[in-house]
Amino acid sequence: MRIVVTGGAGFIGSHLIERLLDRDHEVLCVDCLDRFYPAPVKLANLAAAAAHPRFSMAAMDLCDQPALRETFAEFRPEAVFHLAATAGVRPSIQRPMTYVQANLVASQSVLSASHESGVERVILAGSSSVYGRDQQAPFREECASSEPQSPYAASKRGMELLAAAHCAVHKSTVTVCRLFTVYGPRQRPDLAISRFVRAMLAHQPITVYGDGSFARDFTYVDDTVAGLVASLKAPSGYRIFNLGAGGPSSVNELISTIEHVLGWRADVRHEAEQPGDVPLTYASVDRARDELGWTTKVNLEEGIRRFVAWARSAPDVYFRVGEPWSLGPTGRQGKAGAESAP
Ligand SMILES: NC(=O)c1ccc[n+]([C@@H]2O[C@H](COP(=O)([O-])OP(=O)(O)OC[C@H]3O[C@@H](n4cnc5c(N)ncnc54)[C@H](O)[C@@H]3O)[C@@H](O)[C@H]2O)c1
Repeated sequence: MRIVVTGGAGFIGSHLIERLLDRDHEVLCVDCLDRFYPAPVKLANLAAAAAHPRFSMAAMDLCDQPALRETFAEFRPEAVFHLAATAGVRPSIQRPMTYVQANLVASQSVLSASHESGVERVILAGSSSVYGRDQQAPFREECASSEPQSPYAASKRGMELLAAAHCAVHKSTVTVCRLFTVYGPRQRPDLAISRFVRAMLAHQPITVYGDGSFARDFTYVDDTVAGLVASLKAPSGYRIFNLGAGGPSSVNELISTIEHVLGWRADVRHEAEQPGDVPLTYASVDRARDELGWTTKVNLEEGIRRFVAWARSAPDVYFRVGEPWSLGPTGRQGKAGAESAP
């Protein structure tokens, strides 16, 4: 198939592209290399794919509708994975307009361009943040909250609603995959596991907001990508799936797991809970199992082992000096970690 992956230079998108190329698809990555974290990291994410003969890249902003329309008309994709977004709960509180632009305007642009060029199936990267605060666990797909706790959560829910309207009007097929705290090699540098491991490898302190009892349904990136690929065969029409491990761990349990894998204790500093954070994410996985045949394979300890193995040998670009999120090449500079929900 000819497949577009938006946000393909990002963490999850770059893994998805590698999986699609392995399965003989032709892949066009559409990504503007936004400034959420440095462009050289994103180019490094694409290093394996870039050399592949069935891979191409269009560096553009999805909000540029005419350019996107032209790109789609030329490539004639049969399916589109829309992963591009500005992610992160806390920065969305400081910069809500960025999130409206990147997650609502850009998403509508992708839906419209897909419709105009006859794309058969669009798959959207949704987020567990749409479940809000006081949800009954495990979270079932039909129970999204009408009280999102951050502009990020609201923008991801808004994207879903635009997609539902798009399907109702055009009778098209859009599948929303709600992702739950994804981790693994190349994880976004602002997220907890990346920050904690990089700090601990450098014997730096880590910062935990609150008492560490907040829990996340941490999901290994290979499992997430398997679920995204499985959704190419989801039922037609508008359908939502949770792609989460189905068993949350608290931040304290996460830290213990990292300590166990590394063989030393973390120096933990506590700070106040952050606005926008929710106490729990916990996916109900019945629908994804029954309709997509999807289950996760990598548990937290194994996933952390794989992440640590990657972090120990990752290219320097992932550890650049001077970036506020990073440690130096020797792991001795920059700010050490604070966790962030996706
Ligand atoms: N990482 C997680 O734990 C997690 C959890 C839930 C949902 N998600 C969703 O999964 C998707 C991928 O997340 P990620 O962690 O890989 O993020 P990422 O920041 O690593 O990747 C996003 C990519 O989108 C690109 N992008 C942003 N705005 C764009 C625009 N207007 N035009 C073109 N490209 C643009 C960025 O340059 C970046 O490469 C996002 O939609 C995110 O909301 C992620």
